[in-house]
Amino acid sequence: MVAHPTPAAHLLDPATQPDAIERAAQRLADGGLLALPTETVYGLGARADDDAAVARIFAAKGRPADHPLIVHVPNQAAALAFVSAFPPVAQRLTAAFWPGPLTVIVPRKLDMATAAAGGHDTIGLRCPDHPVARQLLEACAKHNILGVAAPSANRFGRISPTRAEHVIDEFAGQGDSPDAQSSLSSLGVVWVLQGGPCEVGIESTIIDCTRAQPVLLRPGKLTLVEIQAVAGVDVLWSRPEAPDPSAPRAPGTLLSHYAPRAKVRLMSDAQIASALDVIEPELTAAYLLDPSQGPRMAVYSRSLWAYRAKHKAIVHLSMPGDAAMAAHDLFADLRELDATGVDLIWVETPPDDPAWDGVRDRLNRAAAS
Ligand code: TXA
Ligand code: MG
Repeated sequence: MVAHPTPAAHLLDPATQPDAIERAAQRLADGGLLALPTETVYGLGARADDDAAVARIFAAKGRPADHPLIVHVPNQAAALAFVSAFPPVAQRLTAAFWPGPLTVIVPRKLDMATAAAGGHDTIGLRCPDHPVARQLLEACAKHNILGVAAPSANRFGRISPTRAEHVIDEFAGQGDSPDAQSSLSSLGVVWVLQGGPCEVGIESTIIDCTRAQPVLLRPGKLTLVEIQAVAGVDVLWSRPEAPDPSAPRAPGTLLSHYAPRAKVRLMSDAQIASALDVIEPELTAAYLLDPSQGPRMAVYSRSLWAYRAKHKAIVHLSMPGDAAMAAHDLFADLRELDATGVDLIWVETPPDDPAWDGVRDRLNRAAAS
């Protein structure tokens, strides 16, 4: 077996190191990569105004260079440095929801952040609402850094990290393939700014504001209903599981994404109950809605617990019955189930309710792999 060097991790913790934020800002000012916490997920950041620094993000993630990244800014005024126009819809949405889990796509100033934009003539901007991210962006401004480009801090196609430890596992842990290792070797030491567990847990809601009618490109904590109420106009949404061929597709949005190593199978509670009657040879984990919610208790107490008694190998975690809590736990739970080494993860399909759109979207993509 060929040995590949595993990058080491360097954790900066503002809770115990008074100079952590300043050292993190200096790292970015020098053109280095830094994983940073946001309220949604951890990002892998580089200064957005330096194409060479941004190229290191693409190399470390193994991400195609035409998949655009989100640029993080400290406020609305700072966003203006990157845009050739800030459409009224974008103004209304950012005034209402920034700082927060909202990304707007707007026309780009063509001499700015070309690498971060993946060469497209638009740019995605977000002002995060996490105290450590906000302090970092303020410190960056003092170094004349205009914004921080940061995709989720995971390898391309994998589960987004919601804790500093996930980032370390992802990049400084034992990469499971030589390909991953060779892309990671460009990272050197992985710098991670500690910010604790991410409160929201799934990535920002993305709204394309460059068209006559705004388009929801990715659902998140902010629902279509909340967005629509502020946008003042109808917002289009083409669901990835039932795409509308007339709706535009965003560059870099793939049906297959957020994938654990194990296969993910989305199932209704009835499908789960009948699958439990058949003995599957595959080592299986189950991620099922909290059985205290509604009639599921009957199904699970009849089938799952009986199955577990016979086949002790099955691993089970409960998905919280509340959509915000489910989003908060989702990626950490999928990582935990995956780490048990199972072949298959059964996931109960979340309720058909707009509050669950973000979680349902991530699960559909994880199951599409
Ligand atoms: O919550 C989040 O948005 C996290 C945190 C770190 O801020 N970031 C994140 O970035 O999820 P990433 O790169 O994993 O996903 C960004 C997505 C891309 O897949 C792409 O589809 C879309 O944003 N995007 C970014 N810029 C775009 C643009 N100019 N046009 C269309 N889509 C764009
Ligand atoms: Mg991502």
